[in-house]
Amino acid sequence: MPHAVYGLPPVDLAEHPDDAIQVSPLVVDSARLEDIADATLDGATVFAPAGTIERRYVLAHVLRALAPGARLIALAPKDRGGARLAKELAAFGCPAADQPKRHHRICTAIRPGALSGLDAAIDEGGPRHIDNLALCTQPGVFSWDRLDPGTALLMGRLPALKGKGVDLGCGLGLLGRAVLGSTAVTEITLIDLDRRAIEMARRNVADPRARIVWGDLRKGGLPTGLDFAVSNPPFHDGGGEDQALGKAFIQRAAEVLRPGGALWLVANAHLPYEASLRERFRAVEAVAQEGGYKVFEARK
Ligand SMILES: C[S@@+](CC[C@H](N)C(=O)[O-])C[C@H]1O[C@@H](n2cnc3c(N)ncnc32)[C@H](O)[C@@H]1O
Repeated sequence: MPHAVYGLPPVDLAEHPDDAIQVSPLVVDSARLEDIADATLDGATVFAPAGTIERRYVLAHVLRALAPGARLIALAPKDRGGARLAKELAAFGCPAADQPKRHHRICTAIRPGALSGLDAAIDEGGPRHIDNLALCTQPGVFSWDRLDPGTALLMGRLPALKGKGVDLGCGLGLLGRAVLGSTAVTEITLIDLDRRAIEMARRNVADPRARIVWGDLRKGGLPTGLDFAVSNPPFHDGGGEDQALGKAFIQRAAEVLRPGGALWLVANAHLPYEASLRERFRAVEAVAQEGGYKVFEARK
């Protein structure tokens, strides 16, 4: 029976077999944890996510998929859910030994025969339709239960775009869906690293002009010679601020646009993206600044 690993646990904190099956939705081409049959894993190592609903959903699915008697290691930084792991496992009927190490908590447990509360946690963390956003969404996806103010600002400033384009880091597909409101748009590729976001975007943006791709945009996989790009780039990676990721989005936009093509980008106003934009684009204009966010139009 296989061993599953969720995420990328620091190797000095938790080991897993080399042939373990990756089941994190943030690792492109990983297996779907949801599709693993009940009681079929002989071990699991979970680098648990920080969000409570998302973490309980993952723990519940992993416990469901583990065979009785199989070993579970679940770990997380102490201040990003680690301190609550042992209690959460105990609430599912799975007592765990809880060890502190290097600002993390590492819980080790044997999957008991009987568990409780798994279905409720799986329901709570699963996909659903949210009426206030008129969207399908899932806990763990960026801004899953509210409209991000940056996204809202960019949507309010987007002109009717034309031709072919991309939505870089599409999330639930809000920007892509707004862009497709223009009948002059002939094709748009939406890309995101998060498989859950892509599954929701496929439901939210059901339009034959949209191509929706699960992928890491830093690794290619995008058309070129495009007329437009839209993006609300991430600036966090694994909990810390990561401006390099936002700059990689800007670079990718510059690479896929044709000369004269436009990038519409929103970013937190404190982020120093102007220099990166000016380096790669002929004309850069800040078209809006509000509520701590800035919208740029950058022409290649
Ligand atoms: C700030 S969110 C914006 C989401 C959506 N566009 C919106 O406005 O609601 C940034 C998105 O970029 C995605 N992302 C992060 N790194 C990525 C990468 N290397 N390649 C593709 N997408 C990535 C994240 O999963 C997240 O959904």
